[in-house]
Amino acid sequence: MKRTQYCNDLSEKDVGSSVTLNGWVSRVREFPDTRFIVLRDRTGIVQITVDSSNPCFATADQCKSEFVLEVTGTVQARAEQNKSGAYATGAIEVIPSSIVILNRSKPIPFPVDGTPVTAAEEIRLKYRYLDLRREPVREALRLRHKTISSIYQFLDAEGFISVETPMLTKSTPEGARDYLIPSRTSAGNFYALPQSPQLFKQLLMIANFDKYFQIARCFRDEDLRADRQPDFTQLDIEMSFVDVDDVLELNERLIQHVFKQTLNVDVPLPLPRLSYADALDRFGSDKPDQRFGVEIKNASSLMADSSFAVFRTALEMGGTVRVLTAPAELSRKQIEAFEQVAKQNGAKGLAWTKVAASGLEGGIAKFLSPTESTGLLEVTGAVAGQTLLFGADSKDTALKALGAVRLALRDELKLIAADAPRFHFSWVVDFPLLEWDEDNQRFTFMHHPFTSPSLEDLPKFGTPEMGSMKARAYDLVLNGYEVGGGSIRIHNPEVQEKMFNAIGFTTAEARERFGFFMEALEYGTPPHGGIAWGLDRMVAVMAGVETIRDVIAFPKNAKGVDIMADAPSPVDEKQLSDLHIKLK
Ligand code: AMO
Ligand code: AMP
Repeated sequence: MKRTQYCNDLSEKDVGSSVTLNGWVSRVREFPDTRFIVLRDRTGIVQITVDSSNPCFATADQCKSEFVLEVTGTVQARAEQNKSGAYATGAIEVIPSSIVILNRSKPIPFPVDGTPVTAAEEIRLKYRYLDLRREPVREALRLRHKTISSIYQFLDAEGFISVETPMLTKSTPEGARDYLIPSRTSAGNFYALPQSPQLFKQLLMIANFDKYFQIARCFRDEDLRADRQPDFTQLDIEMSFVDVDDVLELNERLIQHVFKQTLNVDVPLPLPRLSYADALDRFGSDKPDQRFGVEIKNASSLMADSSFAVFRTALEMGGTVRVLTAPAELSRKQIEAFEQVAKQNGAKGLAWTKVAASGLEGGIAKFLSPTESTGLLEVTGAVAGQTLLFGADSKDTALKALGAVRLALRDELKLIAADAPRFHFSWVVDFPLLEWDEDNQRFTFMHHPFTSPSLEDLPKFGTPEMGSMKARAYDLVLNGYEVGGGSIRIHNPEVQEKMFNAIGFTTAEARERFGFFMEALEYGTPPHGGIAWGLDRMVAVMAGVETIRDVIAFPKNAKGVDIMADAPSPVDEKQLSDLHIKLK
């Protein structure tokens, strides 16, 4: 290694010293008698100044963007009028005695030198190794590294040990489809890639590890969104002899440590908790963005005798009327856009009316009696210049639609105050244990089937009240994203069997799929519980980027395709026949 320094380490203190640098040509500025080469390495940039009297001039003249160089020369202070404040090494330049072109580069498809990139994301992903030369992408990956490093530091000091669990295994149900791996040596049989290390971490508790964590890769074949990837990373944690408060308390201190270490942000503790029912009622979401107010209110009792058919019908059918106050006088166009949002989320429409100095005006105002109008103003606290938006439907649909409208209002009206804290964490607790699966006409688990019911609900298994059972589960919410989730687990084999039965597995089916685990539960299982953070999501929010692709070195696109490596892709006949597979 001939390099003596990194570019960004050079400063006026180095003036007069001889240095050897390695890096890429970020830019060349050509003047008749001079070539200014901006050399970039992993730390930053420095200017190499070559005038026509320099023996290196001919080589400098050949240099193009992204050529790889070794430059030896002397650091020189720039004349006062040539100093640049735009980058760290702007007060100096290097006068080369030797420039070696170590490699050349084809012209690149988009700039990587800090000029804004207009290329489509698909192009950036196809040439991800070039995209990764860009500073914002590098910064996000450095933040990711620091986050993981501070997690190790904290959990190690707390006595946790990191244990790796298998990738080729049997599937754990986490609500998505499995990625299957055909076995060559065992014809017709398949491994599944883990949707999470859930069962293995529970087995580690049975095995007396007591405090486990892992930065774990998980694989889920599900519809993708900006915050989902088919393979993603969790911080996975499990602890023995704990209850809900113990897990939350440890995670709160971990969050505080990580945010202090990586971003120098103080997270005040304890984090607020709200119940699943309240989250839905107030924010229309189980991952509420609480950086702004605008809460949903219940107008059902006011509207019982409404002359507005939409409201009356909804209530007669056992539904609800909910109202959201937009803190602005919305234009017709805005209202139409919000109505689209409501409809995309299952609502039939988005009734509205405006608050004027004299009372309610426009939209459905003509259907409202004076008592109803006064009641609405009271329930909402709305004042002149604001707009009321209504959802009248089944409770689930009305809340979900208004929850989505609430987020659209946030974006359209820029509702997050400039001085709001950058990060708002909360716990959502008291989830239902089960949810009704319309398609299959039976209950299914809300988190996963190893989640413990709340103890007082245990007798409800197998009764008509099963749907009201609560879980000892919790989600971690940050700025409206679900960045983590976990629970206290079932450690009693009989309860585990009841849970499987509740979600429609016969005992035989449960034994077939999870027999090894059901058996393990019978060998002295300690009470235990844990959590998994969606590490990509957490870092994406920390970095302030729009999608988790921005914090993953080699992500898949929104269709789950790795367009750089071209995966998934066909394989040859021989490979398939080795795996005992025939394509349709
Ligand atoms: P869960 O399924 O809630 O819990 O996953 C935990 C967290 O992982 C993140 N996440 C994802 N991130 C990116 N892409 C995806 N496709 C994706 N799916 C989930 C979310 C989520 O909160 N075994 C349990 C944890 C436990 O009970 O301890 C589990 O995996 O941020
Ligand atoms: P319509 O009677 O269908 O013309 O609707 C009158 C207004 O009520 C429109 O603003 C619709 O968007 C709204 N609307 C219709 N159905 C619903 C509903 N279920 N909830 C809320 N608003 C609705």
